[in-house]
Amino acid sequence: MSQLRINGRLYTLDADPRMPLLWALRDILGLTGTKYGCGAGLCGACTVHVDGKPARACLTSIQSLEGKSVTTIEGLEDDKLKDSWRRHKVPQCGYCQTGQLMSASALLSQNPNPSDAEIDSAMSGNLCRCGTYTRIRDAIKDHARETNK
Ligand code: FES
Ligand code: FES
Repeated sequence: MSQLRINGRLYTLDADPRMPLLWALRDILGLTGTKYGCGAGLCGACTVHVDGKPARACLTSIQSLEGKSVTTIEGLEDDKLKDSWRRHKVPQCGYCQTGQLMSASALLSQNPNPSDAEIDSAMSGNLCRCGTYTRIRDAIKDHARETNK
């Protein structure tokens, strides 16, 4: 049995403790906003927050999360960031976007006014096959401008 705190709610899972969080989220808990891309830590589609920091759900075992707090896209309360994403019409196919939003939100919580280089560095692990990188950067900068004025 593993106990997981996800989006402020405590879940008890009867699953192999080595199971990656991504499998638990999608297949057991029905939290399908977190996406499976590569399953190998390479694409960032599965990005969630663990204790506020971005983490790859495909590489994080559920046993490693005892006593920690997980936030998924379903629990992301950063409405202003989501508004900025909408204003800039960021998503194309949308597949990578929950991971992008989780990484962007973690960046902005630590660095409310990131430079272009800091944005590029923080977002470099999130791949987008549709090439929405410019709009992602604009949305992050716009959000920073809005919250810092
Ligand atoms: S699915 Fe986890 S990094 Fe690609
Ligand atoms: S919006 Fe299509 S993969 Fe990023």
